[in-house]
Amino acid sequence: IYDWTSGFHPGSMWNLYGLTKNEDWKNKAIQYTELLDTLQYWEGTHDLGFMIGDSYGNALKYWDNDDYKKVMVQAAKSLSARFKPKAGIIQSWESNDRWKCPVIIDNMMNLEMLFEATKISGDSTFYNIAVTHANTTIKNHFRDDYSSYHLLDYDPETGNILKRNTAQGYKDESAWARGQAWGLYGFTVMFRETKETIYLNQANHIADFIINHKNLPEDKVPYWDYDAPVTKETPRDASAAAITASALYELSLYVDGDLKELYLTSANTIIETLSNEPYLAEVGTNEGFLLKHSTGHLPMDSEIDVPLNYADYYFLEALLRQRNMIK
Ligand code: GLY
Repeated sequence: IYDWTSGFHPGSMWNLYGLTKNEDWKNKAIQYTELLDTLQYWEGTHDLGFMIGDSYGNALKYWDNDDYKKVMVQAAKSLSARFKPKAGIIQSWESNDRWKCPVIIDNMMNLEMLFEATKISGDSTFYNIAVTHANTTIKNHFRDDYSSYHLLDYDPETGNILKRNTAQGYKDESAWARGQAWGLYGFTVMFRETKETIYLNQANHIADFIINHKNLPEDKVPYWDYDAPVTKETPRDASAAAITASALYELSLYVDGDLKELYLTSANTIIETLSNEPYLAEVGTNEGFLLKHSTGHLPMDSEIDVPLNYADYYFLEALLRQRNMIK
């Protein structure tokens, strides 16, 4: 349960319950969600927003459960223990030989749980931490073209930036595909929760970077890094595509005219692509996963061109959002 991806399996079951309203999925979702119970106290990772937010938090969309609300608030407290007020960021990973206080763009995805915890508890501390982290990220994490670095190393006492690196991307100065998707999704949530235009603008700029990138294939499933040299062997990342589609459906709600049309068309193209060969697996293959062709951590030679549970999670979420919008 301590892997950053542990919330996605129960989360996918909640998404399936949302799609089908079949109680069997709800019962399974409850069973798998509650296996994560002890994570709420864990202060050792920034990933609690994924782990608890996508399981317990997702459940709360369908089920008014006071115990689950308590788990969300406790998890928000644990996540807040990683906040470094002088630097204005939540620390992602523990310090190590290379980095003192690393913060990755993925961390934008953990803020939604903080907003929910404030709504549940009335304690604005969580909300304020989320806003501070997002503002610091806008200030430091983006390049002029609105692509983001994967990792910034901070001095937690001064907020000075010690390094700008990548861990999972092609190189320090490249745009790792899933990182761009996390940023897009994260700033879309920021706008939803605060209604501050600065976050809408940021999300629109990131969307522009992704949708108009010269290396984005016509089917709109990116290679694993927007700057990776493209050959026949370059792996795609279906997870980045699924996250992007889900984010674009939501972002389309906040804009009008041509931009709305562009976001909907782009998201629909991604979903159409992922719903067919070569991405959608036949039942009984692909070790039970829905999607093929995601890339987890290429520089470590890990999870290349494989199914990944978060690709399935965001694909299902995107299908839910698409269906709700059509309704
Ligand atoms: N948050 C870790 C990853 O996207 O691989």
